[in-house]
Amino acid sequence: MRIVMIGSGYVGLVSGACLADFGHHVCCVDKDASKIEALHQGRIPIFEPGLDELVAKNVAAGQLQFSLDLIEALPNADAVFIAVGTPSRRGDGHADLSYVYAAAREMAPHLDAGTVVVTKSTVPVGTGDEVERIIREAAPDLSFSVASNPEFLREGAAIEDFKRPDRVVIGVNDDHAADVLREIYRPLLGNETRLLAMSRRAAELTKYAANAFLATKISFINEIADLCERVGADVQNVAKGIGLDSRIGARFLQPGPGYGGSCFPKDTLALLKTAQDYEAPLRIVEAVVASNDGRKRSMGRKVIHALNGQSQGKTVALLGLTFKANTDDMRDSPALAIVRTLQDGGVAVRAYDPEGMEQAANVLDDVTYCGDAYEAMEGADAAVIVTEWDAFRALDFQRAGTALNDKLLVDLRNLYDRADVERHGFRYVAVGR
Ligand code: UDX
Repeated sequence: MRIVMIGSGYVGLVSGACLADFGHHVCCVDKDASKIEALHQGRIPIFEPGLDELVAKNVAAGQLQFSLDLIEALPNADAVFIAVGTPSRRGDGHADLSYVYAAAREMAPHLDAGTVVVTKSTVPVGTGDEVERIIREAAPDLSFSVASNPEFLREGAAIEDFKRPDRVVIGVNDDHAADVLREIYRPLLGNETRLLAMSRRAAELTKYAANAFLATKISFINEIADLCERVGADVQNVAKGIGLDSRIGARFLQPGPGYGGSCFPKDTLALLKTAQDYEAPLRIVEAVVASNDGRKRSMGRKVIHALNGQSQGKTVALLGLTFKANTDDMRDSPALAIVRTLQDGGVAVRAYDPEGMEQAANVLDDVTYCGDAYEAMEGADAAVIVTEWDAFRALDFQRAGTALNDKLLVDLRNLYDRADVERHGFRYVAVGR
């Protein structure tokens, strides 16, 4: 199949490279000249494990190309994927669809008959209808299809998620679109992957419902963790105790500082807007959003509490800043609220993150960035694990104890065993234990 991928950001690049690896001919297009130039030179503008090798291999094999010019890429395409950004619109939380619609407008006069236009970006219910309307307006006599094919990629594990998905969801309103998408995903269908064909609107909603449900699981266990602290129970036991029930499932029950990233915060808000527009309130999701927002700042207060409530003039070493490990992404990271809460309390913040410091420096002021965890702990009154990077899973307590003023470890990801930490003379504060 010949595929054009509009948008060479995170989703577009991962999807484009994986589809090329399946044996399709893929051209990834982007309007950002510096991005395309970098890709031509073999530099990957994002951090995603394995992506550079995958891109290099498929470029060398002639399966994957990059271009600034959409119109030049379109002829003979079987499918055109739209994988542009859909940020939260300032002010109202609605997903901003201007890039999606601009792509539809631009391609419309140049599409070949039979092309399937596929929205891969996370878009609210009804976006496919609008894309179809825009193309139809510009090309009234063209036969074309518009489909939805939401992605379920986790940053840091995106290639694995693309190549070994639990399911592929395709939202199609005609047989031709279903046939083309089946052919595109054929390499996956030999193994366990299920391909679910449904209406376009159902597929669009599936993406939001999946993310909102996962966010709900996380917020649920986070609130149970708070209760565990009060009643004297270990939330890790409780999470395991409920997660082994296959009706509940063990994943996404890891308590922590609250969910962040480019998807859950934005998608839950956008889903609430849709629910409002259609007058079908989603009270559970409303509660999840409020709970998670409150949690991020409360984690800063938790650190201050661990400092015996005396924060003025103290110094804290933050280990990890990104919203999760194996990414450089700072979007909606709990670290942002934690740093601000600490600074409001008069705490000086030192920090180390293996990948995220460059991005953190764009959004956080007055933080001292350090070369490693021990440098961050130098002269600090506590070490606080914010992100579950492997580098923080086996800290050298001897070195940490020498670097720190006070042997205090606040572990917001529950990476450690309490007895093990206390054996080294540290005070240990975790989440829900
Ligand atoms: C998510 C979805 O998993 C993916 O399917 C979707 O397409 C995009 O959004 P991503 O944002 O990359 O992916 O990260 P994910 O691994 O899902 O984690 C999201 C947030 O939840 C992180 O802040 C993470 O730390 C937090 N989280 C996750 C928990 O606090 N506990 C958990 O058990 C799982």
